[in-house]
Amino acid sequence: MPCADETVPALPRHVAVIMDGNGRWAHRQCLPRVAGHRRGAEVVREMVQSCVDLGIPYLTLFAFSTENWRRPALEVRLLMNLFRLLLRREVRKLHENGVRLCIIGDRSALERDIRQLVEEAEALTCNNKRLQLNLAVNYGGRWDIAQAACAAIAAMQAGEFALEDFSEAHIARYLSLADIAEPDLLIRTGGEERISNFLVWQLAYTEFYFCDTLWPDFDRTALEHALHSFAHRQRRFGRTGDQVLEGDCFASD
Ligand code: FPP
Repeated sequence: MPCADETVPALPRHVAVIMDGNGRWAHRQCLPRVAGHRRGAEVVREMVQSCVDLGIPYLTLFAFSTENWRRPALEVRLLMNLFRLLLRREVRKLHENGVRLCIIGDRSALERDIRQLVEEAEALTCNNKRLQLNLAVNYGGRWDIAQAACAAIAAMQAGEFALEDFSEAHIARYLSLADIAEPDLLIRTGGEERISNFLVWQLAYTEFYFCDTLWPDFDRTALEHALHSFAHRQRRFGRTGDQVLEGDCFASD
């Protein structure tokens, strides 16, 4: 069955972003690092609006990794305060804009009031359909796989399936973001070319786009460059280029 439309996908449905370069941006302006994070938070707002405008339905942003606790205590506190502020000040606007907010990551280490704000924000926005914004906070790809494995083992022990039937699908079912398509495009700003324990499992077939632009400078034009690059990739999912051109692709991709 030919599926020419899928050989050159116009737009990714799911964009994931490693927002790197806030500290360097601030340093270049002779400002404290937190000024870079503040400007970075404004760019998050612009990025959300761009995805809404373009009709990209899923956006996943890496805001704080399981490793970011290693930063100076003051920076960690300021980042958490920024997250708190975002939850207090931005959620209503997100809701009015049709955005569903989901937080992924290990919430147990977050302060109690932040956990409460997260729950309220998720409850308020849970039926919104225009854009699903996933914010990864205290998130690590390895943590995600481990927690999914734990859940799969518990299901097996509860008799849901036998060990000999175990497959990767049993892990995938319990991962963060299991209910949405895996990212089509990963953007990393700031010049580094690694995934830093982001969506380790979910990025298996994602197209990567690395750019030198620092996150606080990542504007609509920079996003359009990334989307343009994506639009010219050929995604083969293990098949040959000829097979893809002949339309030998299936919905299960
Ligand atoms: C990496 O840049 C950025 C972060 C670890 C934080 C990302 C946070 C934001 C964009 C603000 C929004 C915040 C929340 C909590 C929603 P870096 O500081 O490592 O930059 P550098 O490599 O230049 O030092």
